[in-house]
Amino acid sequence: MGPIGVFDSGFGGLTILDGIRTRMPEYDYVYLGDNARAPYGTRSFDIVYEFTLQAVKKLFELGCPLVILGCNTASAKALRTIQQTYLPNNAPDRRVLGVIRPTAEVVGTLSRTHHVGVLATEGTIKSESYKLEIEKLYPETSVVGQACPMWVPLVENNEFNKPGADYFVKDSLNKLLTQDPKIDTIILGCTHYPLLMDKIRLYCPKNITLIPQGHYIAESLQDYLHRHKEMYDRISKGGTCKYYTTESTDKFTESASVFLHERVEAEKVTL
Ligand code: DGL
Repeated sequence: MGPIGVFDSGFGGLTILDGIRTRMPEYDYVYLGDNARAPYGTRSFDIVYEFTLQAVKKLFELGCPLVILGCNTASAKALRTIQQTYLPNNAPDRRVLGVIRPTAEVVGTLSRTHHVGVLATEGTIKSESYKLEIEKLYPETSVVGQACPMWVPLVENNEFNKPGADYFVKDSLNKLLTQDPKIDTIILGCTHYPLLMDKIRLYCPKNITLIPQGHYIAESLQDYLHRHKEMYDRISKGGTCKYYTTESTDKFTESASVFLHERVEAEKVTL
């Protein structure tokens, strides 16, 4: 038995961890942030795959039978290859899940106009993962995406609630809505973005539904564990959470507290 692993390039996955722990506090969790190499958003497929696989292997070493890629960029660029190539040959009894499919599933129940927008990193937008997933599930829905290259750096550098962030939030939202004025639902397809929620709400027309992911990923994971008793039995249930980072632990502690509204101690790891 072991904890559920949650991985992100940096701090963003903490919004997913928070959603999951709020819904299922009974399990043990391990969070790993590759802060030293974040952001992943502008990196190539090969590099995101290599980094993500290293992180998954580390979480396996730490005893996790199940790992959630709490990162859209990693889910878009690495998940499929890990699931289809790495796991069957190297760790057939472990599972790795992503955040794109469960988020895409939600769209069908929320959009009335069937026009959906996605805000995400350059890597996630270029991969077209959301467009492909949503159009497969809901063929009548049209999906447009907008990369927001400045949003992750604003969050990682603790600038997300400062006045300088307003320009970039407004600019990316305008670019998205210009592409398709009929959009009534916007997916925040990057786990860092909920930190910018106050500013996004300020500049987003009120009739548009915003979808941050934490709540929906938690719902989907709960459903997964109900359907997979063999995995449920392998998750340890002590209600603990441990944090690991590839960067300095002081920096992690300072920023993680902003995401989680509580002080956490991290341990440094090398991938
Ligand atoms: N938070 C991650 C995501 O959801 C990645 C951000 C980054 O490293 O660029 O896409």
